[in-house]
Amino acid sequence: MRLDKYISDSTAYTRKEIKKLVRAGAVNVEGVTASAADMRVNETDKVSINGETVRYAGQVYLMLNKPAGYISATEDRNYPVVTELVPEEYAHYNVSPVGRLDIDTEGLLLLTNDGAFNHAVTSPKKNIYKRYFARLSRPAELADVDVFAAGMEFKEFTAKPAVLELTEDPREVYIEIAEGKFHQVKRMCERIGKTVLYLRRVAIGGLNLPDDLPSGGIVECARDELKEKIFGSC
Ligand code: URA
Repeated sequence: MRLDKYISDSTAYTRKEIKKLVRAGAVNVEGVTASAADMRVNETDKVSINGETVRYAGQVYLMLNKPAGYISATEDRNYPVVTELVPEEYAHYNVSPVGRLDIDTEGLLLLTNDGAFNHAVTSPKKNIYKRYFARLSRPAELADVDVFAAGMEFKEFTAKPAVLELTEDPREVYIEIAEGKFHQVKRMCERIGKTVLYLRRVAIGGLNLPDDLPSGGIVECARDELKEKIFGSC
């Protein structure tokens, strides 16, 4: 691969910054000062920047059972962020959350440093359904199912047809949406006159949150399996 890809996969440096560092003679490959940002290197090559070793990261996919109280971001001034839950052994991968869950929403959140994958999962064009369990302030009714199935107009977007699934307890429902707009589930429920009191994402496409993953727990996922479960289901 190119040297700039090796470094950008493994650090927070942008391609532009890497070019500058190479030009300044700050990058070393296998004991020799790097000559160009596009020079070819292997994953196993020893690379350092200003004498600091860069560990090649590659791409990683983590599944988190997000607890309430965390922001879906890599940094925030006021609240803890989900990346604080990433174990030390994954720290050098510089992962970001795939889409966002509200601070009070729990459940399935993926974290990765694969930008293309992140975009594909969150893009409304891909029609990846996200499934949520919600507890409502008032019982849902059969007529609400039709309202969800018809799609909903909002000021800044039109929600595609969504699924509202009733359970034995009419205050507890499952909801499936194709997008992931700001507060989308909560806003759709307000439209049928109910407030969401509790929200947990339980699946993305065919990828389910495992029952045995504790709140705050993280597991690494195999890329191919993840892609098949998420994109193979739509
Ligand atoms: N919809 C919401 O309203 N909140 C979330 O966290 C996710 C979907």
